[in-house]
Amino acid sequence: MKRESLVSITDYSKEDILDVLEKASQFEQNPNRRVLEGKVIATLFFEPSTRTRLSFETAVNRLGGRVIGFSDASTTSSTKGETLKDTIMMVSNYVDLIIMRHYLDGAARYASEIASVPVVNAGDGANQHPSQTMLDLYSIYKTQGRLENLNITMVGDLKYGRTVHSLLMAMSHFKPTFHFVAPEELKMPEEYKLYCDSLHIPYVEHQDFTEEVINQADILYMTRVQRERFTDLMEYEKVKNVYTLHNQMLRDSKPNLRILHPLPRVNEISQDVDDNPKAYYFEQAKNGLYARQAIICKVLGIEI
Ligand code: CP
Repeated sequence: MKRESLVSITDYSKEDILDVLEKASQFEQNPNRRVLEGKVIATLFFEPSTRTRLSFETAVNRLGGRVIGFSDASTTSSTKGETLKDTIMMVSNYVDLIIMRHYLDGAARYASEIASVPVVNAGDGANQHPSQTMLDLYSIYKTQGRLENLNITMVGDLKYGRTVHSLLMAMSHFKPTFHFVAPEELKMPEEYKLYCDSLHIPYVEHQDFTEEVINQADILYMTRVQRERFTDLMEYEKVKNVYTLHNQMLRDSKPNLRILHPLPRVNEISQDVDDNPKAYYFEQAKNGLYARQAIICKVLGIEI
């Protein structure tokens, strides 16, 4: 039985990604399959979460496994000075799989090198959020009928937003055209633009969030400005409400446009968008259950 961690979306080939999407589709047809009977899964959340933790835990419960873990690291021995290394060594003794969110970039890779069981990265700092990417890809595929040759417009905090970093890398398999809409302070980091350059993936950068940009998009991927990543909160105050999508801005958008957002949202999507049939962010979050069931099975080498 093959067992491998999922730390970065680049750990998965195009074939691996398509395999997870196929499994997610099977789980959507029937999410209640007792393939984790007898298994214990740890969810270690060193940072707050609603969707990622609850959808992973629902995934385990619906597959017949059991969950241990914490959603508030202040209740653990890390407050007594226990290192991440020791925590992972201990938890590895108890469980079959560790799902971890951590505030430090690279923490998940480090944990995967220490752990004797597979590790799934549930978000590490501003770095990667691969399980979010799998549900994003599943949502794109469901709404567009394909992953290839799409115009993907990413809006907001492209500097600290780990979801856009993972999504950019995953979409690189599928001939996308990217539009990056961000203020100077929150631009897509050079390393990701160089990644696109190295693969001849076209991208255009914008500072203005205009209807002209929206009207070209197949997918409009809105993001929250990541307050928790700013060292200077005055800088956050300057950019926190930089863009807001209003319903009237969608009047000439493509019929197939879908609006995604990893959530939580703050002010970047007005509530008047929620009833627009192009708003897909709540369904997107629901798809997280099926995508995470698929990831857990793939990581543990369980056939369904
Ligand atoms: N999208 C996402 O990671 O949401 P949570 O922070 O609520 O888990």
